[in-house]
Amino acid sequence: MSRTAIAPTVLPIVRLGHPALRKPARALAQAEIRTPNIQALIDDMVATMVDSDGIGLAAPQVGEEIQLFIFGVQPTPEEPDPLVPLQIVVNPMIDPESGELVHDWEGCLSIPGLRGLVPRHQALRLRGFDREGKPVDRRLEGFEARVVQHEFDHLNGVIFLDRMRDLQSLSYAEEAEEHLSEYDASTPGPGPGFAG
Ligand code: NI
Repeated sequence: MSRTAIAPTVLPIVRLGHPALRKPARALAQAEIRTPNIQALIDDMVATMVDSDGIGLAAPQVGEEIQLFIFGVQPTPEEPDPLVPLQIVVNPMIDPESGELVHDWEGCLSIPGLRGLVPRHQALRLRGFDREGKPVDRRLEGFEARVVQHEFDHLNGVIFLDRMRDLQSLSYAEEAEEHLSEYDASTPGPGPGFAG
C-alpha cells in the first residue's frame, strides 16, 4: 500500500530493550529503495529526528530492521547552510582510517538522558546509496564521522554503551549539569553530547 500521499508522521522511537536495537539489520534490494514505502519511511524518519532534536536516526530505532540511517540537519530559513547537511544512506559500508581513536560525548535517542564518552575513529570513508539509489562515496571526519559510526552501529545491533572503554563518564546529562562545579580535569564533566 502506498503511503506517499500522507504527510510525514513522527514515529515512536524504540528504547533499549526493543529487540530491533540488538539485531543486525537486513540490506535493502536496489529495487526496494525507491518504493513508496521506503520513501515514506525516510520522510517519517526525517520528521521523527527533527521532532526529537536528534542529529542522526537509524531505521532500527523506529523498529524497522533495515540498513538505512539518516543524519544531519535539514536547511531552514534560519539555518540555510547547516554544518552537517541532511543525508540519507542505505546499505552503508564504512572504512575507518587508521589512527588514534578520539573520545567525545555521545547520547542516543533510544537511551534518553544518558551521555558518555565514546572512542571513535577520527575519519572514515562512507559508501552506500542515497534515497534515489545513487551511489554515495564520501570521506568524513570529526563530528560527522562520529555520528555516522554511531548510526552505523545501530544497523549491527550495537549501541554506544558497548563502545565505551569504561562506564565512569556515563551520566544523566540533566543530573550532571547540576553538579558541573564538582567536576575537574581528572573527572570528565558532562559534555553536551548529541542524540542519534
Ligand atoms: Ni543512537
